[in-house]
Amino acid sequence: MKIFAIYSSKGGVGKTAGAVNLSYSAAQCGHRVLLCDLDAQGAASFYFRVRPGKKFNGKKLLQGGLKKFIRASDYERLDLLPAHFSFRNLDLVLAKLEEERRRLALQKLFKPLADEYDVLIMDCPPNLTLLSENIILAADSVVTPVIPTTLSLVALKQLLKLFRKVGAKEKRINAYFSMVEPRKVMHRDMIAQYEQYAIFRKVQIPYLAEVEKMGLHRQPVAAVSPASIAAKQYTSLWLEIWNRSIGG
Ligand SMILES: Nc1ncnc2c1ncn2[C@@H]1O[C@H](COP(=O)(O)OP(=O)(O)OP(=O)(O)O)[C@@H](O)[C@H]1O
Ligand SMILES: [Mg+2]
Repeated sequence: MKIFAIYSSKGGVGKTAGAVNLSYSAAQCGHRVLLCDLDAQGAASFYFRVRPGKKFNGKKLLQGGLKKFIRASDYERLDLLPAHFSFRNLDLVLAKLEEERRRLALQKLFKPLADEYDVLIMDCPPNLTLLSENIILAADSVVTPVIPTTLSLVALKQLLKLFRKVGAKEKRINAYFSMVEPRKVMHRDMIAQYEQYAIFRKVQIPYLAEVEKMGLHRQPVAAVSPASIAAKQYTSLWLEIWNRSIGG
């Protein structure tokens, strides 16, 4: 099982749109996929119309046995661990664990799922906390959307700093340009300046109305319009990230 975190410390950069559409693309490519919605806002769960069970909460999640909280989605090979409102306190629960378990709780939690899924994708909240450290240590690949603007690049620098802090290898970062608007000079300039860095993948996700409309359809873009540009770009991005993760 390969574990992917869709992460940025910056809010509103396209993490959830990425997590939802990349999960769908991965399932379409034949993988057994689990999307874990770790953000208390529950946006990924909303898009898939999945609600958490009544007895579920963040504390129970970290106690293990998360299998009973996993729900099927409307799509073949794609399951979801829905978010719960209590996930806003995940950091407090993590902080109470013993020192040596504190940073590795998520990694441990996912281990029993290794035979059931080929791909696990986390939709992450925009934090720079103990939960973020758990996310980075649990992930084989940290996929980070970067809007070609100054503040998104600041978030990328914060990610590099966090990688150094936890001793993770920077090679595991996959950055991609998100919500790209080529008519904007700043976007064009930023991309020209940074696209050659090894951390960036080739595929970019443009700013597209069909991605915004996911809120209305509550489905991945490719499930609504498989021939759309957005659907094709997310599938290409998935293939680029997947091939890199298996050393291709
Ligand atoms: N490629 C895109 N084109 C147009 N709109 C987009 C695109 N990607 C995301 N959006 C829209 O931008 C908003 C923020 O996107 P999204 O929720 O995916 O960001 P996020 O990083 O998960 O935010 P948060 O940090 O709050 O979790 C949403 O309304 C979404 O529909
Ligand atoms: Mg989100």
